[in-house]
This record gives sequence, C-alpha cells and structure tokens, in this order.
Amino acid sequence: SNALYLVYHGLFLPKVAHSENSLNYFETFVVQDDDIFIISYPKSGTTWMQEIIPLLLNGGDLTPVQTIPNWDRVPWLEETRAAVVMDKLSSPRAIVSHMPYHLMPSTFFSSKAKVVYIARNPKDVLVSSFHYHRMASFLDDPGTFEEFINKFQTGQVLFGKWTDHVKSWKSPDLGDRILYITYEDILFLSQDLRGGIERILCFLGRQLSEDALDHVIEHCQFKNMKHNKMSNYSLVPQEIMDSSKSPFLRKGIAGDWKNHFSPEMEAKFNAAINEEMKGSGIRFSWDE
Ligand code: PPS
Repeated sequence: SNALYLVYHGLFLPKVAHSENSLNYFETFVVQDDDIFIISYPKSGTTWMQEIIPLLLNGGDLTPVQTIPNWDRVPWLEETRAAVVMDKLSSPRAIVSHMPYHLMPSTFFSSKAKVVYIARNPKDVLVSSFHYHRMASFLDDPGTFEEFINKFQTGQVLFGKWTDHVKSWKSPDLGDRILYITYEDILFLSQDLRGGIERILCFLGRQLSEDALDHVIEHCQFKNMKHNKMSNYSLVPQEIMDSSKSPFLRKGIAGDWKNHFSPEMEAKFNAAINEEMKGSGIRFSWDE
C-alpha cells in the first residue's frame, strides 16, 4: 500500500491526488475570514455538500453545478488541484477538506472562516468506503468485508480513524464558527431535504426565495444529482474509477450497513466505537 498512499502525520492519503507539494500548499494556505470550509471524514457526504453549498451561496443559480466539476467548484485544500483552481474561485470561497481539526493550516485558527462539518453513521461510512475501494484503482483492494472492518477500526484507511475525526471537530474553540451536521439530519430533518438545507442556509446567513429553494432541493435529491455529470465522477476515466463495479453515487441512503454487517460484526463494531467515544460527550442520532 506504500505505492498507493502517502503517510501524513500517520494518516493514509492517496498519492493520486496528494503530494509533498500539495501538503505544503495546504499547510501554508492563507485562510480568509469569509472562506467557508466543508469538512468531512471521507464518504460522509462531501460531494453532496459540494453541490448544496455553491447553490446556497449564489441564490440557487444552477450554472456552477452544471458546468464545473465538483473537484474544481469546491476544491480539496490538501489535493494537488487546489493550487491550480484556488485563484479562480470568487469570494466567499467554498473549500473542502478531509483533515482532522488539529492539522488545519495555522491561519485557519486565527481566522473567522466558517465550517460546515458533516458526519455520518460510521457503519454506513464504512460500507460506502468498502465499495469505493472496489471501484477506485488508486485505492488498496479492501479485502473481505470483515478485513475491511478491521482496517477501518484501526485507522488503516484514508484519513485515519473515524472516531478521531468526528471528535476533533467538536473542539469548543470553534464556537459558533461551525455547523456540525449529519448526513442523516439532512436526509431526515424533513422528508424532502428542506429542513437540512434551511439549517445550512441560515448558518451561512443567506436567504433564498421559496422558488429558488424548491429548485435547490429538487436538484440535490440523490435521484437527480446522480445524473449530474459534473458531480457523479463519470468524467473520470473508467480505468481510474470503474462505475460498473460500483457507482460513486451508489445508494445515497441511511442504513445500508444492515445489508452488510452480521449481528456479530455489528455488536463488535459498536462496542469498539463506543469505547473510543466514551467520555467525549458526543451523541449521534443513530445511537438513539
Ligand atoms: S468522498 O470520496 O469522501 O468525496 O465521498 P463523499 O461524497 O463524502 O461520500 C459519498 C457518499 O455520499 C452519497 N451521496 C449522497 N447521498 C444522498 N443524497 C445525495 N444527493 C448524495 N450525494 C452523494 C454517495 O452516494 C455515497 O454514499 P453511498 O452510501 O456509497 O451511496
């Protein structure tokens, strides 16, 4: 796996998109007060936020999401593309990162930049990641599902342990700079995404007409977004991402883990996660 991954502060990052140069760019990046960061552990809803947030920032105009690939529309700060496209972004810039809180660039901490953090049920994250490893040639073979559970729990996966990530972004230092939301909140706050999207809109201090909001909601539904070439990764050549093995926008539901975990696997996984979350004071809706 050393051929495929860089190790950065103990975290595995795929070499296809990360380099020493890109990480140097990340570390020395000058954050602006009006920047908006979308932060996520991989497979938690990043692509969805790369769709929703640009729409909310520009009054619901669909042009950017229909003409600019998601990785250039809302670039990953740690990836090689960042240096190429950052200058083309207009303010307020929307930027994505998968980094844990303590590894953010130093200017992030002294800025007022806002953060939309999206977390997802770790069992669904794991399932999504498992299928992603099957379709992406730049990732390790996941092995059996059981083997992949072990790698996930020990942090031998992209960006380290899920528990470390979700805990790190609960830092009280962030105050009201952060909206900590879950994939499940967005799906279920109301049947039609309205509640979740309105929360993000309010956090960003923006307003949309009812009409524009209806359009955004319609566009960001899984069944519609799945067909947006600028967001479904169909622009990536098949030898790099093979959607015949598993599409990038795969199922878009909560609870697909039930089709993958045996009761024994689930009990063991829950016990391990609960142990790591103990004392953090964090409760997620999926634990209720
Ligand atoms: S990545 O590689 O970190 O950028 O992946 P990420 O985008 O975070 O996660 C991919 C999962 O998000 C699902 N997704 C959506 N779900 C519901 N609605 C919409 N609109 C949507 N867009 C993306 C995507 O299908 C992946 O989850 P799974 O469970 O594999 O379907």
